Amino acid sequence: MASFPGIDFSPIPEARYDDVIKHLRDNFFADEPLNCSVRLCQPGEPHAELEEHALSTLRDRLSWMAMDTDTGQVVGVALNGVSRRGDLAEAQERLAAVSDDKFRTIFGLLYGVNRRLDLFAAHGVDQIFECRILSVDSRYRGRGLARRLLQLSEGTARERGFKLLKEDATGLFSQRVAESLGLQTACQVRYCDYTAEDTGEVVFHTPQPHDCLKIMVKVLD
Ligand code: ACO
Repeated sequence: MASFPGIDFSPIPEARYDDVIKHLRDNFFADEPLNCSVRLCQPGEPHAELEEHALSTLRDRLSWMAMDTDTGQVVGVALNGVSRRGDLAEAQERLAAVSDDKFRTIFGLLYGVNRRLDLFAAHGVDQIFECRILSVDSRYRGRGLARRLLQLSEGTARERGFKLLKEDATGLFSQRVAESLGLQTACQVRYCDYTAEDTGEVVFHTPQPHDCLKIMVKVLD
């Protein structure tokens, strides 16, 4: 197993939720390929809906963080939640009431693809362990932290008896991490093929090399 000197991995206690949100504002909110393509946030900027998405996921108490032991800073997270049958339809209804167009556009894609895919029916399960946010501080990337965070998450999913692990991997690096742990692509959408119904224009111009969304799954037996 890879070793990570100076990095401590642990489940995320409630006392660190504010630090997780700060980490996400400084990294994920601006850097994640879909957020980046619509310029959802500048680095450091808050985002009410994304923060609620992160906090409601944290409350499922299935998430992991990586901490720099010298500074105590949160430098990476895997935010994991439980997805249940019916959740997607409800989330789509709530999304219609969200005022931020950019947020609606991103989650419109994710919810729509997942609803069509219907992994609950395909795998005969009522609950799915979902890695919703995988994020590493830009200064710590490329060292395997995300891979370790997802591996620990898989362990939690197994311990809790989940039969399916899923990640909506929106860029090449998260796809590589997932592939390296044996997740397989259940469905793929190339961003250049995803166009607006009214104008026919491509919706997301993601930065290279991130050219597709992959819904990635692993059956846990
Ligand atoms: N150029 C080329 N390859 C890279 C780069 C880079 N700049 N950065 C990482 N990679 C590769 C690594 O080599 C590795 O692939 P390999 O195993 O084939 O060598 C893989 O991508 C990433 O491995 P890790 O080191 O474990 O990943 P890292 O700790 O750097 O974190 C992450 C990856 C989380 C995607 C990070 O880049 C990040 O936070 N990005 C912004 C947010 C984001 O896009 N998150 C994922 C969205 S999907 C979701 O959240 C469910």
